[in-house]
Amino acid sequence: MKRRGERITALTAYDYPTARLLDESGIDIILVGDSLGMVVLGYKDTTRVTLKEMLHHTRAVARGVKQALVIADMPIHTYDTPEQALHTARQFVDAGAQAVKLEGGVSRVTQIEAITQAGIPFMAHIGMLPQSVREEGGYKVKGRTQSEAEALIADARAAEKAGAFSVVLEIVVPEIARQITSAISIPTIGIGSGEHCDGQILVTHDLIGLFPWFTPKFVSPEARVADEIRRAARAFIERTRAGDKI
Ligand code: KIV
Repeated sequence: MKRRGERITALTAYDYPTARLLDESGIDIILVGDSLGMVVLGYKDTTRVTLKEMLHHTRAVARGVKQALVIADMPIHTYDTPEQALHTARQFVDAGAQAVKLEGGVSRVTQIEAITQAGIPFMAHIGMLPQSVREEGGYKVKGRTQSEAEALIADARAAEKAGAFSVVLEIVVPEIARQITSAISIPTIGIGSGEHCDGQILVTHDLIGLFPWFTPKFVSPEARVADEIRRAARAFIERTRAGDKI
């Protein structure tokens, strides 16, 4: 698709009905993201998400998808060594994922190689790394300084060399995302990184307005599902209290 100049579309799903709806809509990639922790499980960030939780949700998503590529996020501390990374990746494949993703570039080359050399398709994730949010002290834009920009390009090149088929660029300065996109031959999938990436990914809850308590600045929601849920629940409550037929 990159070679043909076709933009790649990706959204997250964590359950069977959402995965099936996105698949029926023609999405290219469904990511079982560890954003699960925030938008489904109610954790503060992704650092508490466990492998057991991710596998459970990956199985549900895989049951709902016929066409899209299903990618699963490897949670924090499930890829600290190459051996552990491969063991974790295999569990996701057994759960129905067709590919896996983990966070990091240069610093994770041995883990990426262990996965790709075992024949498991791998997507990289560089830029702002949500699993490092505590060390970073927040969700900060990446690529603002020359050294950060150079490090990002090195990360993308290292991921490609280690066998990644694609790389997510999260909250990267758009001009640096453009440079990375032309520096590597695998597709870049941007989130909050401007329009020059080869594709775009969003957390579905942000796109459809299902997590109204926080919406990232770069998202323009296409729907207000939370409002619809509240409206339907209130209507049910009123009809029930009034003794109306349900
Ligand atoms: O966990 C997730 O949903 C992600 C995307 C935001 C890229 O990693």
